[in-house]
This record gives sequence, C-alpha cells and structure tokens, in this order.
Amino acid sequence: MKQFSYILSLLGLFGFFFSGTIDLDNLFNYANQEVPDYIFFDNTTTNQINDRTATLGRVLFYDKTLSRDNTVSCSSCHQQAFGFSDPAIQSTGVAGVTSRHSMRLINTRFGIEESVFWDERAATLEDQVTQPIQDHIELGYSGTNGDPDINDLIELLSGLDYYQQLFTFAYGTPLVTELRIKLALAQFVRSIQSFDSKFDQGMVLSNEQILEPFPNFTNSENLGKELFLLDKPVGANCATCHQPPEFSIDFVSLNNGVTATADGTGVDYTNFRSPTLRDLVNPDGVANTPFMHNGAFPDLMSVIEHYNAVPFDPNNELLDPDLLDPNTGEPQQLMLTPNEKLALIDFLGTLSGNNVYTDEKWSDPFEPDGTIEIIGGNLGIYDLARPEIEIQLSPNPARDLVQIKADPGQYAMILTDAKGKKVMSCTTGGQQQLSIGHLAQGLYYLSMTNLETGKHSVTKLIKN
Ligand code: HEC
Ligand code: HEC
Repeated sequence: MKQFSYILSLLGLFGFFFSGTIDLDNLFNYANQEVPDYIFFDNTTTNQINDRTATLGRVLFYDKTLSRDNTVSCSSCHQQAFGFSDPAIQSTGVAGVTSRHSMRLINTRFGIEESVFWDERAATLEDQVTQPIQDHIELGYSGTNGDPDINDLIELLSGLDYYQQLFTFAYGTPLVTELRIKLALAQFVRSIQSFDSKFDQGMVLSNEQILEPFPNFTNSENLGKELFLLDKPVGANCATCHQPPEFSIDFVSLNNGVTATADGTGVDYTNFRSPTLRDLVNPDGVANTPFMHNGAFPDLMSVIEHYNAVPFDPNNELLDPDLLDPNTGEPQQLMLTPNEKLALIDFLGTLSGNNVYTDEKWSDPFEPDGTIEIIGGNLGIYDLARPEIEIQLSPNPARDLVQIKADPGQYAMILTDAKGKKVMSCTTGGQQQLSIGHLAQGLYYLSMTNLETGKHSVTKLIKN
C-alpha cells in the first residue's frame, strides 16, 4: 500500500490526477494565483489563503458528512458547473428548501462589500461559512428542532482519519474546532476566482482604458459596455451599483425593485447585495442559474426588462434612489431600444471566464461512493520547498541533543523518519532542546507550525 502511494505521488508530480485522492505533496495553487493588476478590492483580512488550509477547505466544501443525514454538502447548492450556484430557484437541504435562491461563489474575495448573503446579514465570509452547517434546513446541525448541534459535528469529524491528517497538515495539530472549519472554508471560497474572460482580455488590449472601445469586442459588446458604464440618460447606469472591473456590488446599494419572495407568497425588501456580475452565463452563453434573490428571472433579457421599467411599489421605501427618475421621482424607465437591450446582454456575456467551471482545484475530491484517500504529507516534501518560517537546528547532524530555534511563539512540532512515520511530537515555544539519543541513525524531517499564524516549515535533520 505504501509503495502504491509512493507511485501515485510520483505520478502526481507529472500532473496525473486521481479523483478520490488528495496528494499532500502536490497541492494545487490556491495562494498565489494570478490576479490582474487592475483588480483593486480584496476583502481578505488576517485569514490569508495558504494551500494547505484551502485544501482542507475543499474537502469540507464537498463533504456530505457535514450534513446531519449525510446527503447534502456545500457543493449541492453551490455547483462548479453552474458558477458555484444552483440551477434550482430554491435549493434542497436536509429539511426542505431554502427561502432564497443560492448565490454564485465566484470572486467573492474581490469586492468592496464585505458582508455576505443577499441581505448582507453576515458581516464577513468567516462569519458566514459555518452558518449553513447550523441551519435547520440546509445542513441541519442547528441544535434546534431536535437537530444535533455543531459540537456533535466537531466530535464526528474528529473521529475521521482523513480529518486527523488534514487538520494536522493545515494547523499542525489534529484538533477540530469551529474556528478552524471557518478559516478553511473561507479560504477555499475566497480562492474561487475567474479572470480569463473576454472582458479581461479587452482590459489588457486597451491598456486598461475601460471607457475606450475594446479591440476584441464586437460593436454590440462595445455599445453594451458603454451603456453599462455611463450614467443616465445616455447610459443605463449599471456601474453605479455593479462596480467594474470587479463588477461587485457597491456597499451603499439598497434594493433594486425585485421584491417578491422566491416562493412567490410575500415581499422582501432587504436584498441589497448581488454576487459579482461575472459568470452570470456559462462559456456557451447559457444562464448559469435563474437570477436575483428570488430566482425570478430565467434569462438576461428579463433582467434588462426589469431595469428598463422598474415597477412602482408604494411600500418599497428601500428602493435605491439611483433607480428613480431624477425628474419625476418615479422608478426609472430607461426606454432602451431592442438593439440596446441586446447590446447590454452581449456585454454581460463578455464577463464570463472558462477555467473556473472545470479546474480540478475547485472540483469534488471524493469518490462517487463518498470515500477519499489522503496520500503524502508525512515527509513534508511540499513544505521543504516553501519554508514560511525560519527554523535553525544545531548541531545538524546531531548525536544526542539538538537545539531548535525559531521566532518566539507557540509551535506544533512533529518529527518523522525518512519513511514518513511520526517518531516524536509536542507543542513548544520558539526554543526547544530535543533529545534524540534513542533514535536510529538516519534522515528525519522536522516540521514546525506556528499555532497562531498557521505558518509552517519543514527542515531535514540528520541523526548520527
Ligand atoms: C441547501 C443549500 C445550501 C447549502 C447546503 C449551502 N448553501 Fe451557501 N447559500 C445558499 C443560499 C440559498 C444562499 C443565499 C441565502 C441568503 O442570502 O439568504 C447562500 C449563500 C452563500 C454565501 C454568500 C455569498 C455572497 O456572495 O454573499 C456563501 C459564501 C455560501 N453560501 C457558502 C456556503 C458554504 C461554505 C456552504 C457549506 C458549509 C454552503 N454555502 C452551503 C444555499 C446553500
Ligand atoms: C441601485 C443599484 C443597482 C443598479 C443601478 C443596478 N443594479 Fe443590478 N442589482 C442590484 C442589487 C441590489 C441586486 C440584487 C437584488 C436581488 O436579488 O434582490 C442586483 C442584481 C442584479 C443581477 C442578478 C445577479 C444574480 O447573481 O442573480 C443582474 C444580472 C443585474 N443586477 C444586472 C444589472 C444591470 C444590467 C444593470 C443596469 C441596467 C443593473 N443591474 C443596475 C443593484 C443594482
């Protein structure tokens, strides 16, 4: 088995991919993806993405164990092939359907508005990501209505071998906590990015002169871009709220006049947020999912028709003033021509990427039967090449005692032999004397993880 794993990790080096397997020696790149220099907003604060923790986040995101009856995962309602949303108007959880339509999770990191959900009720992504777990309808660890609670889930995850390995790999110790789950899921969600669109090519070709016609655009796409960007009455004023080039929502936006609830029985004036307008449609131009918090618009034409003639509702006091006619104070009537409507739709189509729909790094790592195998990681091959903290060992080679020196802090220390077997582990401060007299001669790998920052390094230690 060990040998088989070894062959697998060698194949991994040459880019082979095995579904159902996470190879800790050959992680995907989540932390250092290319982001265009014209992308300005980034809502990451202290929870910087690193490949180890985002890999744990990927497994959590796709794991049905996170639902109380093992039938639903985050990915059930946030499907890669549909821009990480759900083609259904309301998504099915463990106990019924959601009251709002699911949201695309693309470029969530790149926005000025930090709060998430349609009604912005979660202050940050970190606050949000464990809420679906604790929602009675969605994943069902709510602690209400006879549901188990999140501590029951934590106990369950702590008993699974692959999480013991993955939490240790990400955080230095196998401890499962809600905070660690939050950090990992938020990192994975923030890593989902899409910047290989026709619009992005146009930004480069035009030297980032967004108001100039893009040379790679059709006339209609350029007309649509102009209408999107320019104020009324010349343009359609979309950019006031959906700010380019991120196309993320402006944080002062109120509602846009789409006020029916998803089940059609009531009104909801509280939806002030939209996901980015990137990847509304897939690379073939087909709507990824119906649009808006209530999924009421099956295609982009119905979206444009809405803004072209925003309906009057005397009870909607939270309609954004930018959607009123400055002269009459009534909801706007843009009077777009049929050509202008098509131009706006053509332009929105240029905002879709390709890679995000298929890239393996964001795909389901589980086998169809729900199993997963974790290979590698023990020798720290991945981290040897990417030290994040400085560790000094002296002497090295050593016979009886070795002095470890790192910056002050609390660390998880693991020593493994040349075959990846753990021979010692402890938590230590930055300075520690290790007695290794009892160990056999040979090569060892010493891994240190800072318990506060998650920063991590591996060094070789030779015992003679
Ligand atoms: C049963 C379906 C369902 C499941 C399961 C689910 N979600 Fe969602 N998700 C939704 C819906 C619906 C919304 C919008 C809800 C709202 O605004 O009230 C949403 C919104 C979000 C948002 C906000 C996006 C934004 O831009 O504001 C994030 C992030 C998110 N989900 C992540 C997750 C994660 C992580 C998990 C797994 C732990 C998960 N979801 C599980 C249906 C689901
Ligand atoms: C006053 C701010 C504002 C303006 C102006 C505005 N929008 Fe919106 N837009 C929103 C808000 C808020 C939402 C989310 C509303 C909801 O679902 O209830 C939204 C949602 C959308 C969605 C659906 C996104 C999704 O993921 O389902 C599309 C598409 C869209 N807007 C396109 C446009 C276009 C095109 C224009 C210009 C014609 C425009 N918007 C003008 C605020 C605005």
